[in-house]
Amino acid sequence: MKPSETDAPGDMPAKEFRAAAHEAADLIADYLEGVGAYPVLPKIVPGDVRRKLPSPPPEHGEAIGTILGDYKTLIEPNVTHWNHPGFMAYFAITGSGPGVLGEALAAGLNVNAMLWRTGPAPTELEETVCDWLRQMLALPPAFKGHINDTASISTMLALAAARHRLPGLEIRERGMAGRSDLPPLIVYCSDQAHSSVEKAAIALGFGMCNVRKIPCDDAFRMRLDALAQAVTEDCAAGRMPVAVVATAGTTSTTSVDPLRGAGELCKREKIWLHVDAAYAGSACVCPEFRALLDGLELADSIVVNPHKWLFTPVDCSVLFAREPQTLRDAFSLVPEYLRTADNGATNLMDYGVQLGRRFRSLKLWMVIRYFGVEGLRARIRAHVRLAQAFKGWVEREPEFELCAPAPFSTVCFRYVPTHLQSDPEAQDRFNERLLAEVNAQGPVFLSHTKLRGRIVLRLTVGNLRTQEEHLKTAWRLIREAVERNG
Ligand SMILES: Cc1ncc(COP(=O)(O)O)c(C=O)c1O
Repeated sequence: MKPSETDAPGDMPAKEFRAAAHEAADLIADYLEGVGAYPVLPKIVPGDVRRKLPSPPPEHGEAIGTILGDYKTLIEPNVTHWNHPGFMAYFAITGSGPGVLGEALAAGLNVNAMLWRTGPAPTELEETVCDWLRQMLALPPAFKGHINDTASISTMLALAAARHRLPGLEIRERGMAGRSDLPPLIVYCSDQAHSSVEKAAIALGFGMCNVRKIPCDDAFRMRLDALAQAVTEDCAAGRMPVAVVATAGTTSTTSVDPLRGAGELCKREKIWLHVDAAYAGSACVCPEFRALLDGLELADSIVVNPHKWLFTPVDCSVLFAREPQTLRDAFSLVPEYLRTADNGATNLMDYGVQLGRRFRSLKLWMVIRYFGVEGLRARIRAHVRLAQAFKGWVEREPEFELCAPAPFSTVCFRYVPTHLQSDPEAQDRFNERLLAEVNAQGPVFLSHTKLRGRIVLRLTVGNLRTQEEHLKTAWRLIREAVERNG
């Protein structure tokens, strides 16, 4: 058909898209196959990439081949390679093959599943996949999940629901500002909890000073006696406990707070228990690691990040709620233009702040189906085995120190040379230098944290490409750096 004069210019022609999509598929496949050849950290300084990009936008369209060429030379080499087998920093992750395909297919559909009506299959797939994950984590059927971008947002939503459940405050309607009738609202977490708890307190108006950082025991687990005492003191002073955030897999050491004890205390005191299982939740697909999270089922809400250790591309965070109705009551707001007649259907916009939502369940569905629960278990177990091997190497070297128990796939350690035994500051400087030198080499990337005030190195296994040879390389580079600086 001949185009008319009023026709809109339209999208990339289908034929051109098909050819470019094949080219992009090759780019991705080549990248995933060869990522290990890059240094994990690009050897660039801030501003290097920006300087190579034109400052004005292109006035005229460019050939897709030129754009893909620039992607290959300018973008791909200048990212930090999270899919690299030597990526052992923070929590290592994998954008696995099936997950990448799920992302691509979701981009093609470009659905916005705010309502069932605007995304029937995405809504029902999200419900189904979250229920698969619930079963994989051996949680009771009462828990219903939905997908957010990150654990930070999941935790914020959980704390908003906890606040909403408190009787008589009417914060949804009346807000918090300028109210003399509101007591300070208190959130409890351990001194090892992720900063997202405080960020949620900032966003929700609790204030950071109302986040109680409960001290930990020798294994970096929240002390229940200290928690109970803090709750008692706050209540006696007229302050109002809102929620306890227990962590299953803390960011620094992957310690697990005593969930059963925290759950019992929360039940007794009528406090909402939110469990941040962003990292270790994935390990619960293995019964032996689920046992380390005994009492998880007592939570009112739980966050698990498949984008951390369940091989799903960033971003994908599942928030489970035991009474999803509370979350709904806290957030559901339906203007006229979003009303539909689909009675009984789930409208995912009701469970949080965002209206529009990406089709994230597709990639998680593809990951779980492709690997199968058994395959996921095998991969988690392999990662734990690798990390435990590394832990053994550290333990066998007299001047290396294991700084925390390593129940999963993360090892905290440092080097304490004999001649620096009595100088903690010098020990810190030594370990910082060690880390910088190891990371500057290229094959591996480790991160650090502070435990009991001291700098500690952190190695974590979570990428599907990581094998023993990569850990051996890390260990060799660490020891060579020690020798150079010794
Ligand atoms: C225990 C824990 N909770 C929450 C987060 C925040 O995760 P997200 O980046 O998904 O917000 C992290 C990040 O590493 C974490 O380690």
